[in-house]
Amino acid sequence: MSEQTIDLKKRRFLTQAKLEMEFKSLPSKTPVSEQTIDLKKRRFLTQATSVVGAVGVGFVAWPFISSWKPSARAKAAGAPVDVDISKLEAGQLVRVLWRKKPVWIFKRGAEANAALSSPELEALLADPNGSGNSKSQQPAYANNTHRTIEGNEDVAVIVGVCTHLGCSPTYRPEPGAADLGGESWKGGFYCPCHGSKFDLAGRVYAGVPAPTNLVIPPYHFVSDTLIRIGVDPAA
Ligand code: FES
Repeated sequence: MSEQTIDLKKRRFLTQAKLEMEFKSLPSKTPVSEQTIDLKKRRFLTQATSVVGAVGVGFVAWPFISSWKPSARAKAAGAPVDVDISKLEAGQLVRVLWRKKPVWIFKRGAEANAALSSPELEALLADPNGSGNSKSQQPAYANNTHRTIEGNEDVAVIVGVCTHLGCSPTYRPEPGAADLGGESWKGGFYCPCHGSKFDLAGRVYAGVPAPTNLVIPPYHFVSDTLIRIGVDPAA
């Protein structure tokens, strides 16, 4: 051991001494040209570090970006829903699930349809024209008295979720229901959670906890008897 170790130590000592001597022999001020070279070197090193950093971020970010891609299940959850209404009769209501929310599709008879524009009913509603708080509760093409696509006023498509705290209101189509206002009740929906009332177009009554009309989802008629919920009509 001893000789080899001593030899190694000696060599290390000599190298260090040589370096110290070289350092001392340097001029006290580094010439400008060397400073410039040194600056360039530093800049190069900074850039190189940034590139390595960016590449590193790229590698780190990829798993996240790839996990943002919606899974097939997520796509299915937001997918449009087709509803066949060929057997739907006036007064009947069907429920489907779209984006995990209940959507009602129902047919209004001529009388119920006409009642929607009666001044007597509109006087009881908070925002009958959808121009106030409920402005964004329906697509532009359904911002009308019936809250439907023009030409299909007898078929309503409404998200069945109360705009107060999210209960699903009960369908109460019978006009004149004593527990809901008697003569003034033209048919609609009643939320048993805190007593909000909506008419047959999903418009909210004034003075109830629900702040806005019910939501009308995007939808269109694929044919006379098939409705697609989740997709706007072609422009
Ligand atoms: S959730 Fe419907 S009234 Fe409160």
